[in-house]
Amino acid sequence: MNAIELLEQQHREVEKLFDKIEKAESEEKQELFDEIADALAVHAAIEEQHFYPATKDARTEELLHEAVEEHLAVKRIIADLLEMEVDDPQFDAKIKVLKEQVEHHVEEEEKQLFPKVKKVHSKDELEDLGILMERTARELKEQGAPRMQVPSETGAAAPLD
Ligand SMILES: [Fe+2]
Repeated sequence: MNAIELLEQQHREVEKLFDKIEKAESEEKQELFDEIADALAVHAAIEEQHFYPATKDARTEELLHEAVEEHLAVKRIIADLLEMEVDDPQFDAKIKVLKEQVEHHVEEEEKQLFPKVKKVHSKDELEDLGILMERTARELKEQGAPRMQVPSETGAAAPLD
């Protein structure tokens, strides 16, 4: 799959999970949070390892620096949530802040970054990049619970190369 299609598909999946968790009761909430955290961990990893370095140039660099800072903010919220019980009075509020941060990040990628990337990179390049990203995503899921990597990534934003 084309790299941008893959990322957009992941964005839609995570939006659905946020809609579900807002309506969920506590047991289901834990499962849904684990799913959201796994999905965001995989998404951030394939962007940071493949998509951002491969698409970095003078036109995208500023947006990419901002993107990895946004990932960092998202990872810090996920790390907090991993330590919380779902019935903690702050849990729902933190989920809401996570959702807002993710929505903002998704909008910037889809409205600003992806259109620039599409202009510079050919369909074939994006197809090859997508294959690489799908492979890494699969590997991370096979290792199990990709969210558990997140707390070790909260020190600083990921490097862009
Ligand atoms: Fe991202």
